[in-house]
Order: sequence, then C-alpha cells, then structure tokens
Amino acid sequence: MKVPTCLLSLAVIAHLVHATIWQNDQARTTDYPVTVIDPSQYELQTYAPNATELSYKGRWDSKFISCAPGLKFGFTGEYVVITFGPYTTNATLIGYRIDGQDWQFTNVTANATHLLVSPSTAGINITTPITPSTFELRVTNWAYGIQIASVSVSKGERIVRIPNFDRTIEVIGDSLSAGQYATLEGLASYAYGLGAGLGNTEYTITAYPGICLFDKRCYGNLRGMFYQWYYASDVSGRAIEIYGDNPELWDFSKQPAADIVVINLGTNDANSANNVTTSGYVSQYTKLIEGVHTVYPNAQIILLSLWEGFGAVGNTYEQANAFVPEIYGIYEYFNSKEYLDQPVLYDHATNSTYISEHPTKPFVSYFNTTGLMQHNDIGPQYHPTDVGHVKVASHLIQYIKIKFGWILYATGPEVQHDTLYWNDMANY
Ligand SMILES: *[C@@H]1O[C@H](CO)[C@@H](O)[C@H](O)[C@H]1NC(C)=O
Ligand SMILES: *[C@@H]1O[C@H](CO)[C@@H](O)[C@H](O)[C@H]1NC(C)=O
Ligand SMILES: *[C@@H]1O[C@H](CO)[C@@H](O)[C@H](O)[C@H]1NC(C)=O
Ligand SMILES: *[C@@H]1O[C@H](CO)[C@@H](O)[C@H](O)[C@H]1NC(C)=O
Ligand SMILES: *[C@@H]1O[C@H](CO)[C@@H](O)[C@H](O)[C@H]1NC(C)=O
Ligand SMILES: *[C@@H]1O[C@H](CO)[C@@H](O)[C@H](O)[C@H]1NC(C)=O
Ligand SMILES: *[C@@H]1O[C@H](CO)[C@@H](O)[C@H](O)[C@H]1NC(C)=O
Ligand SMILES: *[C@@H]1O[C@H](CO)[C@@H](O)[C@H](O)[C@H]1NC(C)=O
Repeated sequence: MKVPTCLLSLAVIAHLVHATIWQNDQARTTDYPVTVIDPSQYELQTYAPNATELSYKGRWDSKFISCAPGLKFGFTGEYVVITFGPYTTNATLIGYRIDGQDWQFTNVTANATHLLVSPSTAGINITTPITPSTFELRVTNWAYGIQIASVSVSKGERIVRIPNFDRTIEVIGDSLSAGQYATLEGLASYAYGLGAGLGNTEYTITAYPGICLFDKRCYGNLRGMFYQWYYASDVSGRAIEIYGDNPELWDFSKQPAADIVVINLGTNDANSANNVTTSGYVSQYTKLIEGVHTVYPNAQIILLSLWEGFGAVGNTYEQANAFVPEIYGIYEYFNSKEYLDQPVLYDHATNSTYISEHPTKPFVSYFNTTGLMQHNDIGPQYHPTDVGHVKVASHLIQYIKIKFGWILYATGPEVQHDTLYWNDMANY
C-alpha cells in the first residue's frame, strides 16, 4: 500500500541564519561561545588560504568558498585562529574540534577573525597519542557556507599538512543526506555518521534539500543532481548570488577519487509536485551512475532504496515506497552481462554516452533500507530524527564492513554530538 507523504523542502533564505535549534518543540540551548577577536592583540603566524598545509574536504571553489564541507590541518602551539572572508554566511554555525576531543560550536561572523583554539581548549596540553595536534572544522548547514581568508597560529609555531586517509566515501543525495531537520543538520545526518563513523575515511556529502536526480527545477532548485554533481557549488540562493548561471566546474582531481559512492536520490523526483516522469528518472539515474563510473572507475556504487516516510494504516503503521522496481532494475542492469561486457560511460562535458573498450567488474550494489527505521524515527517534517539517522548510518557501516571488508577505525572519539541521554537512576 502506498502511504501518501509530502517531502517538502523549504527554500532556504540566506539571511535567516539565526534559526533556533529545536529539540522536540523545545529550544536547544545554543549559548555557544562568541569567538571573535581583534587579531592585533595577538602575535600570530598567518597563512594564506592556499597554503599547502591546509586540507580542504568536500567541495570548495577557487576563492576558498565552501559549499558546506570541511577543513583539516595539524598545528603546533596552543592557538588556532581563522579569519573568515566576505562570502561567509554571517552567523553560520560551525562544529570544530582538536584531536579526538568532542565537537565544539561557534557562530562564524563574516569578515571577522575567530579564536577557535587557545590554552583553555580541553586537551590542548596533551600531546599524545595524536601528534601533531589536528584541527578539524565542519559547516553544519548545507546551504550556508564560509570563506577562508587566512589561518593563523602563534608566532613561532606552524601548521602541518595531515595526509589524507587512504579511503574515501562520497554520498550523493537530497535533504535526507544533507541532514535537513536533524538537530545539528549536516553534523547529525546519516551521511556524516557513515563517513565519520567508519573512521580513517575521507568523506564528502554532495547533497542538497529539495533537489531531484532528474535535471529540472524542483522545489525552487534550478537544476537536478544529474547536472549539479559536476560543479563546485550547490543549488542554493547563495551559490546563485555568487556565480549566477556560470558555476565553477568541480575539478575531481583536487581530492582523492571515491572508493565508495552512496546514492540516495529520487524522493523529490517521486513527489508529484515536481513532475518528473518515471522514464526520465530511470534514464538520468542510469546516466548519473555511468558518469560516476567514468569519473571514479574503481568506485563501488551503492544505491539506497527510498524510505518515503511512514503512515498510519488501519491500526498500525506502514512505510511508503517509491521507485522500488526502478532502482532495483537499475541495479540489475549494471550487474547484467550485457552491461559488464560493454560498459557504457557518460561524459558530462559533451553530454554524451559512449561504450568503453574494456569490460568492467560489477560495481553497483543495492542497499535495501526497508526495516531499518520505524515510524517514530521520522520527525514531523518527514525527515529522520537524529535516532533515525544513526540507525541508517549504523546499518550502512555494517553493510560496508561485511560486503567490502572495510575495517571500522572509529573506536572512541565522538561522532554524533548532543546525542548523550541516559537513565542514571536504578529505580523510578
Ligand atoms: C548560532 O547558530 C544557531 C544555529 O543556527 C542558532 O540557533 C543560534 O541562535 C546562533 N547564535 C548566534 C549568537 O547567532
Ligand atoms: C598562493 O597565492 C598567492 C597569490 O594569491 C601566490 O603568490 C602563491 O604562490 C600561492 N601559493 C601556493 C602555495 O600556491
Ligand atoms: C563583509 O565585507 C564585505 C566587503 O568586503 C561587505 O560587502 C559585507 O557586507 C561584509 N559582511 C558582513 C556580514 O559584515
Ligand atoms: C553577524 O553575526 C553576528 C553574530 O554571530 C552579529 O553580531 C552581527 O551583527 C551580524 N552582522 C550582520 C551584518 O548581520
Ligand atoms: C595548558 O597549560 C597552560 C600553561 O601551563 C595553562 O595555563 C592552561 O590552563 C592549560 N590548559 C588546560 C586546558 O589544561
Ligand atoms: C506539472 O505538470 C502539470 C501538467 O503539465 C502542470 O500543470 C504543472 O504546472 C506542473 N508543475 C510543475 C511544478 O512544474
Ligand atoms: C543532454 O542530452 C540530452 C539528450 O541526450 C538532452 O535531452 C539534454 O537537454 C542535454 N542536456 C544539456 C545540458 O545539453
Ligand atoms: C526490501 O526489504 C523488505 C523488508 O525486508 C522486503 O519486503 C523487500 O522485498 C526488499 N526489497 C528488495 C528489492 O529486496
């Protein structure tokens, strides 16, 4: 039975950044420290944003403007100071941490300098086992972003390049992967939980609320992921303000090729508000996979079935589905002898498909999400709760471990922040 759902995504308005973080209709305390400083009061060693010691994670453009990703580097000394450029969305919430310490949060002011690590930062005086100390930053929201103008440490100290981990995962999706309506948005999404939860893994989330896979306007987003995946920027109003209709192509050589690509797209295509046809969806989904295989020939691609929310059916609940035979059929097609013997590739630059000279080994898997979540794992705005995200991430991690032999390296440091609740009373 088909349960009606309406997966609506709000058009994000760039200046409404002081949104309250809600937790079951109660405002979460967000008295994050104000970290703005006057840099002239400090003796600093300052690095330009193109310093080779800085590792940018996810997609950034040539002006060091982020599209909701991360930054990582090592440092000596007890101070890390970052100056944010004019293209920073003012008051954007960032998560940041050193070493294996918990995430900390602050709202970033555009055109300002922030003191993010100082002698009072927990763990700063402990130099083992992680040496040099690492600093890591992630933007929580998918649409807001920051621009790095410079990075500083104390005079006489230095920043250090931290080598990439030797495995990489990319999630391509919509609001469900972007973490919309999760309490810490991107830092609470299953996609982040998967990448960070595997440990020792580089991860990129190429996801935007409301986006369709099919290349058309959906919920105000001008393009679909079939097109957008090839660009440095997303489909936000912020990106349109910065680039107009001339977005920068993403240079895939800037970061290691993905070893695993997870695709979770179609929930917005399946919504009648967006008028995507089933044949159009299947055709462009197929070409998207051909395109990913062209860019990352060694990547394993995992297709997620869509969970589509839950509804009351009689005296119980049922999960709705969409495009079940279609996604399964795409999986079967890529595992057919016909495809593997004469693999079709897709080139975005010429918008055309061609047949590869070399047969390929199976590289597409189907991940059935039915049964991972129950109706109360979905919040009132039709998106997983933090618990729902944790469930999907956990199952995906175990699937990847069993199917591809990936070792789980995250064995202690926090992944999901603000999810610690417990009962410490023996009897009620
Ligand atoms: C920081 O950002 C969070 C999330 O958008 C928001 O709830 C909070 O009010 C902001 N705080 C300030 C001081 O802007
Ligand atoms: C960084 O950019 C400056 C100009 O903005 C240039 O002079 C310098 O060579 C660049 N450094 C690196 C490491 O690319
Ligand atoms: C940041 O500076 C630019 C000029 O460089 C200015 O246009 C912009 O309004 C400033 N942003 C904020 C939030 O102050
Ligand atoms: C930018 O955000 C900060 C709070 O994080 C606020 O104090 C400041 O007034 C904002 N600036 C503008 C131009 O909105
Ligand atoms: C680190 O050491 C400095 C100097 O000994 C001290 O002032 C500071 O409180 C220490 N920080 C922490 C977080 O323990
Ligand atoms: C969907 O198609 C119908 C019929 O062609 C049209 O009336 C409607 O405006 C379309 N909706 C969108 C969102 O494009
Ligand atoms: C790509 O080619 C298809 C036909 O194969 C066409 O429908 C589509 O409009 C083209 N897209 C672009 C961006 O040229
Ligand atoms: C997905 O899992 C559900 C629940 O176990 C099952 O009913 C369904 O047949 C599975 N779908 C596929 C395509 O294997």
